[in-house]
Amino acid sequence: MALLFCGVLVLLCGLDAAWAILVTDMDYGGIPLWINRLLGEPSVLSLQGRMDPAWFRANNPQTCPEQCDCPIQWETSLYCDHRALENIPEGLPQRTQYLFLQGNNISSLSYSTLANLTNLRWLIIDNNQLKSDKLEQTSLQNQTQLRYFFANRNYLTSVPGGLPAGLKQLRLANNQISSISPGAFQNLQNLTLLLLQGNRLQTMTGDDVKGLVGLNLLDVSGNLFSAVPKHLPPSVQQLYLSNNFFSGLHEGSFEGFHNLKYLRLSHCGLQSEGIHPQVFNHSSLVELDLSYNQLTTIPTVPTTLQYLYLEANRIQEFNVTSLCREVGPLSYSRMKILRLDGNKMTYHQLPPDWVYCLRVLQRIYI
Ligand SMILES: *[C@@H]1O[C@H](CO)[C@@H](O)[C@H](O)[C@H]1NC(C)=O
Ligand SMILES: *[C@@H]1O[C@H](CO)[C@@H](O)[C@H](O)[C@H]1NC(C)=O
Ligand SMILES: *[C@@H]1O[C@H](CO)[C@@H](O)[C@H](O)[C@H]1NC(C)=O
Ligand SMILES: *[C@@H]1O[C@H](CO)[C@@H](O)[C@H](O)[C@H]1NC(C)=O
Ligand SMILES: *[C@@H]1O[C@H](CO)[C@@H](O)[C@H](O)[C@H]1NC(C)=O
Ligand SMILES: *[C@@H]1O[C@H](CO)[C@@H](O)[C@H](O)[C@H]1NC(C)=O
Repeated sequence: MALLFCGVLVLLCGLDAAWAILVTDMDYGGIPLWINRLLGEPSVLSLQGRMDPAWFRANNPQTCPEQCDCPIQWETSLYCDHRALENIPEGLPQRTQYLFLQGNNISSLSYSTLANLTNLRWLIIDNNQLKSDKLEQTSLQNQTQLRYFFANRNYLTSVPGGLPAGLKQLRLANNQISSISPGAFQNLQNLTLLLLQGNRLQTMTGDDVKGLVGLNLLDVSGNLFSAVPKHLPPSVQQLYLSNNFFSGLHEGSFEGFHNLKYLRLSHCGLQSEGIHPQVFNHSSLVELDLSYNQLTTIPTVPTTLQYLYLEANRIQEFNVTSLCREVGPLSYSRMKILRLDGNKMTYHQLPPDWVYCLRVLQRIYI
């Protein structure tokens, strides 16, 4: 697991880690949060069990709704999480930028409850009972400052429409989403992260994803796709498709993804016969996860690939050609980690020339 996370960390580290701190103590859809302290973003996502609410109430002169906690160190954060609320509290202070409502029993989101919160930057409402027919189309429309909207683990059946244009992250994992409202992503040019894993999507058309020109990470693992969706945004660098069932991968499955670096296709029922030899021939690929499939041979991968996970397949032979088309002074595989454990192979089956191909390998698991 640590290995798989590595890819994400490396990539994010590249951006600018000087001010960022990583918060991993909670599951916000499986992808850790990066906190920008300079912007005043709170690095604690819940006060439950951490700090004494009575102390804040006694010492913080700011108004604070009865059902929430208002810590003095983050003046614009409002913690109303984990307290069996059935509605969003009324009269939330206008200063609120970071609103935590996770772990309640909230089923609806209306325009009027949030209308006064014109500074809202994060709305975290994971683990509630939000339903699509109770989520007013206008509820977030005018939230021009909203950057993060997290509604993992709710009962949404469609990706809501009317999302505000400034949104950077949309996390909707583990709902019951089977459709995308028309034009839902149309204005979301700044969206970089979209989590939709654990839903019931069967297709995604070009129209569905229209507007997502800056998307970097797309997680649609654990849906009902039977083919790799076409027309996904070409900006995507991290594409997670695990736990769908693909009968095959044809030549153009990842065509046009010139930025694709991290591709996860584990638990997809893939068989070697159904995989076109050219399908992974993308020089941008850094990490490829094909674990827990039914592969009998090592698929052809680009020599620039650095991490290849093939554990728990049915691979019986090690064919150097899959990793190196030819071996020479400059033509060798950049592979650092190769996992072949849980296959029908032993170390003794490695052909003698494998070391000339895998020259910079750091670890091999057989
Ligand atoms: C939410 O409401 C249901 C019944 O409506 C109740 O059984 C459940 O305990 C509530 N959950 C929380 C977190 O309060
Ligand atoms: C919004 O602000 C107005 C004026 O301060 C107030 O009357 C109204 O109750 C507020 N609405 C909510 C939902 O808090
Ligand atoms: C959102 O803002 C626009 C422009 O300011 C306004 O016309 C519209 O009525 C607002 N929407 C809602 C639901 O109030
Ligand atoms: C999108 O991001 C750019 C760059 O940060 C910013 O200038 C622009 O205002 C953002 N768009 C919206 C609609 O917030
Ligand atoms: C991979 O694609 C490149 C062009 O993008 C091509 O030159 C090369 O022959 C392909 N590799 C294999 C193994 O077919
Ligand atoms: C390895 O794969 C190549 C291309 O698929 C094939 O031509 C060759 O016969 C294979 N070698 C072995 C030893 O199986």
